[in-house]
Amino acid sequence: MALVALKDLLEDAVRNRYAVGGFDAGEHGFAEAIIQAAEETQAPVILMVPEPFLKYVDRHFFAYLVQRIKASSASIDLHLDHGSTYESCLKAIHYGFTSVMIDGSVLPYEENVALTKKVVEAAHAAGVSVEAELGHVGGGEETLADGGTADEDHFTDPDEAARFVEKTNVDALAVSFGTVHGVYRGTPKLDLERLTAIRRQIDLPLVMHGGSGLSDEDFRNVIKCGINKINYFTAVSFAAVEEIKLALAEKNGKIFYPELVARALQKAKEEVVKTIKVFGTR
Ligand code: 13P
Repeated sequence: MALVALKDLLEDAVRNRYAVGGFDAGEHGFAEAIIQAAEETQAPVILMVPEPFLKYVDRHFFAYLVQRIKASSASIDLHLDHGSTYESCLKAIHYGFTSVMIDGSVLPYEENVALTKKVVEAAHAAGVSVEAELGHVGGGEETLADGGTADEDHFTDPDEAARFVEKTNVDALAVSFGTVHGVYRGTPKLDLERLTAIRRQIDLPLVMHGGSGLSDEDFRNVIKCGINKINYFTAVSFAAVEEIKLALAEKNGKIFYPELVARALQKAKEEVVKTIKVFGTR
């Protein structure tokens, strides 16, 4: 199988109404855990590197990663998550990514359109797919301890989304309808009517950020209403960190590093495999 651009990877998901997981990595171990989960399930995955994690790796990491994915028995898209500038998207394209997200969701509408359009033109010239975001999914690393709640004022407007897609020629659109990144404060409330209205207007893959913390039923519902890519990170990271804490406690801190890392990555892989099955990815 191979390195596959997001647009091609999600075509079947749109046609047959299922979702493909987008899992974040910021170093070799997590990337390998995600690739192995895809190989074990023989399901496609989107291996994402968030722009803030680029500081943990360098071009050698991507040279290795592209070769590793090309040699994999699974179909994998290498994706820049939450790219904030035109330049960082170009850098990712240069590194061999097969898709980029340009996240202009905090910009005024016209600026989001202009930035997304500029990235789409450059990316398409290189055969790279583009995800954009309209409306804004909040939360994030800084609110992990408190948890986040969704702000309805930033939910995606279905008519505006249709105009945005038309103007930008983007390949996938991340939409806001009740999810947040990181840990939820309280039970998440998803506006499925809004999601259904967006799906009626748009014939492209729809993306949901903030997958961690939702129930299996929530996943089934959002997929039924039109979501085709689900970003999922915090729960995988927590699974690995909890295992590290457990291993350190069990061995009173006297454990060799490779064993500690292997245990953590095994848990990360198991969480990804479990999630792929819930999403119904094939
Ligand atoms: P979670 O960490 O909440 O699963 O969200 C991940 C995400 O949306 C990355 O873009």
